[in-house]
Amino acid sequence: MHASILAPSILAGDHANLAASAQIVESLGVSWIHLDIMDGHFVPNLTFGPQTVAALRKGSTLFFDTHLMLAEPQRYIEAFAKAGANLISIHIEPAYDHAATLKRIRELGCQNGIVLNPGTPAEAIEPFLDQVDLVLVMTVQPGFGGQPFRRDMLPKIAQIDAWRRERGLNFRLEVDGGIDLKTGPECRAVGVDTFVAGSSFYGAADKTTFTQTVAAW
Ligand code: DX5
Ligand code: ZN
Repeated sequence: MHASILAPSILAGDHANLAASAQIVESLGVSWIHLDIMDGHFVPNLTFGPQTVAALRKGSTLFFDTHLMLAEPQRYIEAFAKAGANLISIHIEPAYDHAATLKRIRELGCQNGIVLNPGTPAEAIEPFLDQVDLVLVMTVQPGFGGQPFRRDMLPKIAQIDAWRRERGLNFRLEVDGGIDLKTGPECRAVGVDTFVAGSSFYGAADKTTFTQTVAAW
């Protein structure tokens, strides 16, 4: 089993000072940060693009876990790779050549990830499990931070973890949405090793304790 990794989501940070929000993560000794990229089409919200990622890259050595919520992700992976993304994850739901895009992400020197929404069954991503570095299971409908955790996603997570073990695969299994110190351990119990936390992390009064708690899961 992989050691647990915390990936604080900068979506819940200060968007007038994203560099400072990334610095908070770095100063705690956390190595990952989760960057939510939204296009107003695939999800009903907008965030930021490659220019902002490149600007953050200049002042940070964090591992950029870049979650593309885009209707046409294949058009933008090169820009995000050049901007300094370390991992680029793409959703299964839109129609494009998923296998070719996952391959291209690796050719660009990044790790790749496949993401599925709450309404998408595990079977949709099953053909790609041997082609990915990470599977991201959304535990809320993507678009906004601060939504309640979807506990009904736990069986789906357990299924993906079972496939991972049965097939001797090594991808990381990540959850995103409503993760906090209560819901995180429920996910850990069914195989999750990578935890996105937006509002619970940036809202935590004691971020050192929060960080140490997740690291010990
Ligand atoms: C939601 C984003 C999440 C978001 C999670 O569309 O993909 O990464 O930041 O926020 P919390 O942790 O507040 O649910
Ligand atoms: Zn996300």
